[in-house]
Amino acid sequence: CRVVVLISGGGSNLAALLQACDEPGYGAQIVAVGADRESAGGLKLASDAGVPTFVDRVSEYPARDAWDQALTEHVAAYEPDLVISAGFLKLVGPEFLERFEGRYINTHNSLLPAFPGMNGPKEALEYGVKLTGATLFFVDAGMDTGPILAQVSVPVLPDDDVETLTERIKVAERAQLVECVGRLARDGWTLEGRRVTVP
Ligand code: GRF
Repeated sequence: CRVVVLISGGGSNLAALLQACDEPGYGAQIVAVGADRESAGGLKLASDAGVPTFVDRVSEYPARDAWDQALTEHVAAYEPDLVISAGFLKLVGPEFLERFEGRYINTHNSLLPAFPGMNGPKEALEYGVKLTGATLFFVDAGMDTGPILAQVSVPVLPDDDVETLTERIKVAERAQLVECVGRLARDGWTLEGRRVTVP
């Protein structure tokens, strides 16, 4: 299973995936890593692992559509079976979604549909929920609204601040991502409406 990973940040999810892909029988191979900014720390992890990288900055393009088209073409050039947004902080446009429909997944740091968007752990803490977690889902045109593949719950502890909660979620989130991507890679999947089946 050929995988392209998109990132914006430090790439701890990417690091976990790169490590898993080294294990015999895991079933997935990361064929490229893309970012929307040069500063994404995960780019170095990828190049150190010998994985090709590319950067598409929105500001390089005259309009958002042109960026979306360029990103679509860059990703498509690697002929992925699966595209993973692992902390990729951009909403992709219609062209990308159409090209990779049913093959583009994202990991989010809350139990969706609660707390979509950029501040999942902070909003969970402020709301006072006792359980939050991470969600792996197929991206659709909405923000964090697509069909759900997997969820893992994480307790909110009385002494948590945003940082401790964010870190506890990330540990569970990485494990879920690695486990689920391996299953998708080995067994395939079907997507009918909102129903996701991994045989
Ligand atoms: C993840 O927790 C993801 O849910 C959020 O950003 C984080 C990515 O971290 N959107 P990293 O770059 O993989 O370390």
